[in-house]
Amino acid sequence: MPNIAISVKHLYKVFGKHPREAVERLKRGATRDELLPATTAAVIDASFEVEKGEIFVVMGLSGSGKSTLIRTLNGLNEPTAGSIKIGDEELVDASPATLRAIRRNNISMVFQHFALFPHRTVLENVAYGLEVQEVAREKREKLAYEILQTVGLAEWANAYPDELSGGMQQRVGIARALCAETDVLLMDEAFSALDPLIRREMQEELVELQSSLGKTIVFITHDLNEAMFLGDRIAVMRDGRIVQIGTPEDILTNPADDYVEQFVQDVDRSRVLTASAVMQPARAVAPISVGINGVAKIMREMQVSGVFLTDRNRLVGAVTEIQVARAARHGNVSLAEIIDRDIETVSTDTVLSELFEPAVDSSLPLPVVDENRRILGVVPRVALLSSMTTTTGAIDVPEDAGEHDPQIPVVDAVVINEHGATTGVPATTTEGGAQ
Ligand SMILES: Nc1ncnc2c1ncn2[C@@H]1O[C@H](COP(=O)(O)OP(=O)(O)OP(=O)(O)O)[C@@H](O)[C@H]1O
Ligand SMILES: [Mg+2]
Repeated sequence: MPNIAISVKHLYKVFGKHPREAVERLKRGATRDELLPATTAAVIDASFEVEKGEIFVVMGLSGSGKSTLIRTLNGLNEPTAGSIKIGDEELVDASPATLRAIRRNNISMVFQHFALFPHRTVLENVAYGLEVQEVAREKREKLAYEILQTVGLAEWANAYPDELSGGMQQRVGIARALCAETDVLLMDEAFSALDPLIRREMQEELVELQSSLGKTIVFITHDLNEAMFLGDRIAVMRDGRIVQIGTPEDILTNPADDYVEQFVQDVDRSRVLTASAVMQPARAVAPISVGINGVAKIMREMQVSGVFLTDRNRLVGAVTEIQVARAARHGNVSLAEIIDRDIETVSTDTVLSELFEPAVDSSLPLPVVDENRRILGVVPRVALLSSMTTTTGAIDVPEDAGEHDPQIPVVDAVVINEHGATTGVPATTTEGGAQ
C-alpha cells in the first residue's frame, strides 16, 4: 500500500520472564493480570496502520503501554511477536545494520526528557540529524536555521543549550527532530514539559509544519485536548490493548466503552465537533429571481424571518423580514437593493468554538457553504447550544447566546442523538428549494 507509512500487525511486547510463552498464554485467553508479577504484557495484540502525512495520536492512562508501543516502532524495543513495517521495510528480525539505517533515514523521535549535546550550539544540535545523513554543512545549517525561526529560537542559534530555559531546550529538541529529513516522527509526551501557552503554540506549529513538510507523526499524549487538537486519528490504549481507534469526532461521539467515555468526558467539545455535526437542512433558501414578492411569500408560508438567496445555486446574501416589510412600504424597491450581501458563512469543518462569534453577530442561522458557496446546511444558534450540553469543559459562550432570538427560525431537531450520531443532513439547495 503506497499510502501507508507504518503498518503494525498483532504486535506484542512482553517484559520479564518467558515472554514468548506469555504471548501464547495471552493468545489462549489469559489476562494481563494473570501473568503478573513475573511478566508484564506492556503491548498486547496491537494492530493499526498510519497513513503517510497523518498525525496519529496514542493516548491512555499511565502504564497503558503507550511508550512501549512507540519505542517498538523505531526498534528501541524489540517486539516479542507480531510485525511492524515502516514503509516497505519489516523491522521485526531486521539486522542491526538495517535497524540503524531505518533510524537514521526514516524515523526521528522526541521524548519528554531528552538531552541536547551540551558542547554543540543550538544550531548544531538542530542540524545533527542532517549531519548524520551526511548533508553538506551549508545546506544543513540553512535548513536548521529555518526550523529555528519556525519555533521562535533563531536568535539563540549560536547559544549553547545550558544558556536556555528547559522549555526552550525542549523546543530545540523538537526542532532537531523536525529538521532531520525523516518521513516519520515519533513524539512521546514531547510537549508535556512546556508551559501551557508555549504548548498551544507548539501544537499549532506542529500542525502547520506537518502540512508543509508532509511528515507522518505518531504522537503520545496524556492531554485529551492536545490529542483532539492534533490527531487525525486517535488510538486509545488500556492495559496494553488498543481499545479504540477513530477520528476525534468518532471517539467523542461514539466511545467504544466506559473507559473511553470517561476519558473524553472532559474534552472541550467545542474545539472538536465541527459545523457538519450540528448543521441542519437549510429550509429558507430561494433563487434571487423570485423577487420581493416571492421572498415575502416564503417568509409567510414557512414562518421564517429571513431567507437566503442564491444565484445559480451560489449563496449571494440574505434578506430579513424587516427589510422586506420596509421595502414593501416604499414600493418599487428591488430585491437586489435590499439584499445583505455581507453575511458570514462557515464551512463543514469549522469547529464549533469558531461558530459562536459569527452566530451571535447575525440574526439568521449561519449558512454552511462549500468552496463554490453552495449552501450545504445551516447552523441555528439553538443547535449550537444544544450540541454543547454535555460539555464540562470551559467554553466561551457569548452572554446573550442563550436567549432565543425571535428573528431566527425555530428549529425542531436535536443535534446529537442518544447514540451520539449526528444529524447534519446536507440540504438540497436547488433553485426553488424553499417551498
Ligand atoms: N523496560 C521495562 N521493563 C519492564 N517493564 C516495563 C519496561 N518498560 C515498561 N514496562 C512496563 O510496561 C507497562 C507499560 O509501560 P509504558 O511505559 O509503556 O506505559 P505508558 O503508557 O507510556 O505510561 P506513561 O503514561 O506513564 O508514560 C508498565 O506496566 C511498565 O511498568
Ligand atoms: Mg510513557
